[in-house]
Amino acid sequence: MEGMLKENALRDKTIIVTGGGTGLGRAMGTYFLKLGANLVISSRKADVLEAAAAEMAEETGGKVLPVACDIREYDQIENVLQRTIEEFGKVDGVLNNAAGNFISPTERLSHRAFDIVVDIVLRGTYNFTLAAGKHWIDNKQPGTFLNIVTTYAWTGSGYVVPSACAKAGVLALTRSLASEWAKYNIRSNAIAPGPFPTEGAWKRLFPADVAEQIDPMKRIPLKRFGEHQELANLAAYLMSDYSAYVNGEVVTIDGGEWLHGAGEFNGLEVITPDMWDQLEKMRKK
Ligand code: HXC
Ligand code: NAP
Repeated sequence: MEGMLKENALRDKTIIVTGGGTGLGRAMGTYFLKLGANLVISSRKADVLEAAAAEMAEETGGKVLPVACDIREYDQIENVLQRTIEEFGKVDGVLNNAAGNFISPTERLSHRAFDIVVDIVLRGTYNFTLAAGKHWIDNKQPGTFLNIVTTYAWTGSGYVVPSACAKAGVLALTRSLASEWAKYNIRSNAIAPGPFPTEGAWKRLFPADVAEQIDPMKRIPLKRFGEHQELANLAAYLMSDYSAYVNGEVVTIDGGEWLHGAGEFNGLEVITPDMWDQLEKMRKK
C-alpha cells in the first residue's frame, strides 16, 4: 500500500493524465507528482479539474495544470498539448485513462448510447495518441503511452458491450503502435485493472440493487478489491525509465479475477472438506 519507486523516479517528466481529476486517474497522477513529475490533468468538467489540481498540488508540493478538454474533439486535445508546452516546455508521457461506461442489456441501448461510450473510450484514446504521437515524431522526442483498459478487453463481457468493444480497440492500438512507433522511441503499454472502487465506476456499474445480486468481491480469488496505490505503483513504473525495455505489454492487476472466472473447475472452492471426504469414499467404493 506504499509508494514503490525511488524518490524522484519521474523528476523532469511532464505527464498528461486524461480523466485525471477523479478516481484512478487522480490516484495515479498524485503518485506521479510525489515522484517529481509535472502533471497536466484533463477532462470535460473544468470545475472538478481546478479543485482537484489545487488539492493535488497542496498534497504533494508538485505542479499541476488543469486543462478542460473533451477527448472526442481533436482540436481540444491539440489545445491541451499546446498549453502543456507553454507551461512545462515539453510532454514526456500520456496516460490515456478517461472513459465512459454503464451497464445495460445491449438490446436496450440506442445507437447514441453505444456511440457515447465508444467515442469516449476508443475515439478519445486514438485522438490523444495521434496528436501526442505526431508531436513527438515531428520534434524527434521520445514518448511513453500508458493506456488503461480492463480484462474484458480480451474476454469480452455482456452488459457493457460498448465498453468491451472500445477497450479491445484500445488494446489493439497499444500493441500495434508498440511495434510501429518503437523506431521513434515511443513506447506503448497498457494496464488491465480489475475492480478498484471509485465513485465513477461504482455508481454506474455496481449500483446497490445490482451489487446485492452479484457481489463483485466474490469473483476475486484474493477476496479483496485493489488499492489505488497498488495501481499507481504499476502505472509509475510503466511511465518511468525503469521500464524502458517494456513495450507492447498489457499488465493485469485484478487479484486473479478473470482467470478465476475462466477456469472450468475454479468454482469447486464451494465444496467443503466434508463433501470432499464423501466424494473420496464414493470413489473408493
Ligand atoms: C442506457 C444510457 C445510460 C444507461 C446514458 N445512456 N446512460 N442508456 N443505460 N445507464 C444513453 C442516453 O439515454 C443517451 O442516449 C446516450 O446514452 C448519451 O447519454 P447522456 O447522458 O446524454 O451522455 P453524457 O451526459 O455525455 O454522459 C456520458 C456517460 C456518463 C458515459 C453516459 O456515464 C459519463 O459521463 N461517464 C463518464 C465517467 C464514467 O463513465 N466512469 C466510469 C468508468 S468505469 P439517447 O438515445 O437517449 O440520446 C469503467 C470500469 C470498467 O470503465 C471495468 C470495471 C471492473
Ligand atoms: P472515473 O472516476 O469516472 O473516471 C473517468 C474519467 O473520464 C472522469 O474523470 C471523466 O471526467 C473522464 N471523461 C469522461 N468522458 C470524457 C471525455 N469525453 N473527455 C475527457 N474526459 C472524459 O472512473 P475510474 O474508475 O477512475 O476509471 C478510470 C479508468 O479506469 C477508466 O479507463 C476505466 O475504464 C478504468 N477501469 C476502472 C476500473 C475500476 O474498477 N474503477 C476497472 C477497470 C478499468 P469528466 O466527467 O470531467 O469528463
